[in-house]
Amino acid sequence: MRFTVAIDGPAAAGKGTISKAVAAYFDLGHLDTGLLYRAVGRKVLDAGMDPVQAAKTLMAEDLNAEGLRTAAVAQAASKVAVIADVRAALVDFQRAFATRSGGAVLDGRDIGTVICPRAEAKLYVTARAEVRAHRRWLELSEKDPSLTLEQVLADVEARDARDRDRIEAPLVAADDALVIDTSDLAISEAVAKAVAHVQSCKEFIINNL
Ligand code: CDP
Ligand code: CDP
Repeated sequence: MRFTVAIDGPAAAGKGTISKAVAAYFDLGHLDTGLLYRAVGRKVLDAGMDPVQAAKTLMAEDLNAEGLRTAAVAQAASKVAVIADVRAALVDFQRAFATRSGGAVLDGRDIGTVICPRAEAKLYVTARAEVRAHRRWLELSEKDPSLTLEQVLADVEARDARDRDRIEAPLVAADDALVIDTSDLAISEAVAKAVAHVQSCKEFIINNL
């Protein structure tokens, strides 16, 4: 059965954590589409490649490269992500993953709106910027203790603004997405809400076959 779960939202809202848990619960594949943009951003930063060329020549192993989770690569990712031809070069791979037999969870910014507008279940995961920056700072400061919370907050806010204000596939909740604000939720509570929503979407489909 084709079954696609679309999970969108701003930086460090909990999309990846929820996606992995939903994928494991329902035995679906998972694609973190942010990694595609991070891998393109990395090639531009490290090798000075043309962003569109980098997107067109992206390979599966680029997504497993070390160092994609840094703040510098995140900024580079959001800069290449405004370019329409970069986004266009990444569409087919994402849609092929989304429609694989056995079903899939994709998380990103435009999954429920542009990549998979007919996804069977949609979630928009969000949280207050201060909460998201604090979570991301806890992660990043393990590797770079000199990083301050203020720097991470500024980075997250700059990236959110770029993602929301761009013309091409801006960050916005799909009309039919369930919005989950994780600001005051434990991971287990956020996951339970997501699983319940996906379960009800799945039952709706089965009952209407
Ligand atoms: O994928 P995204 O950037 O939206 O976020 P994430 O990587 O899933 O989550 C960012 C951090 O927030 C991780 O360290 C999660 O463990 C943490 N988190 C949390 O503390 N509470 C939640 N309800 C969700 C995530
Ligand atoms: O993990 P986090 O939420 O911080 O970021 P990410 O999901 O890895 O995405 C990095 C950047 O890629 C975002 O700030 C967006 O600019 C871009 N992106 C996008 O434009 N569309 C997507 N479907 C996924 C990511």
